[in-house]
Amino acid sequence: MLAQLLKIVIDQYRLKVDGVHGIHHWGRVLENGRRLAPLTGADPRVVELFAIFHDACRWRDFLDHDHGHRAAKLVQSLRGDIDLDDDAFGLLVLACECHTRGPRLPCDETVLTCLDADRLDIPRVGMWIRTNLLFTAAARDPVIMGWASGRAWHGEIPAVCADEWGL
Ligand SMILES: [Fe+2]
Repeated sequence: MLAQLLKIVIDQYRLKVDGVHGIHHWGRVLENGRRLAPLTGADPRVVELFAIFHDACRWRDFLDHDHGHRAAKLVQSLRGDIDLDDDAFGLLVLACECHTRGPRLPCDETVLTCLDADRLDIPRVGMWIRTNLLFTAAARDPVIMGWASGRAWHGEIPAVCADEWGL
């Protein structure tokens, strides 16, 4: 499912696919999420889908406040292609929406894990991870922060790109 959805996402992506918000970022977010989810109790299916969708509708690499809303719309347009029950699907839509708009955040571990998986990759654009902006104790763990920030600083190409996505 993920590889087919990834193709749809890439085909409609307006920016450079290997840019700062492109596939390498999506892959690191996915791998961050895979590391966090067993610790936070998040639904790993939602976290993985969030990784490929959350920045899929960026029109600019920096200020683009509506891209989370557009990502949520894209997810909703693909309801028939996304194999999640309605509750999990709703969390995916909410996580995409929340990651830019910042409505009152739900205390839902799956959504918060999605947001942290993304924030742990912020060093790729030359910014430090701010511990006070992380939501979960798992993401604030110095071991996980060090692991994720090292990969982000160096723009490491995540294994998932070749191993699972064939990219
Ligand atoms: Fe992101």
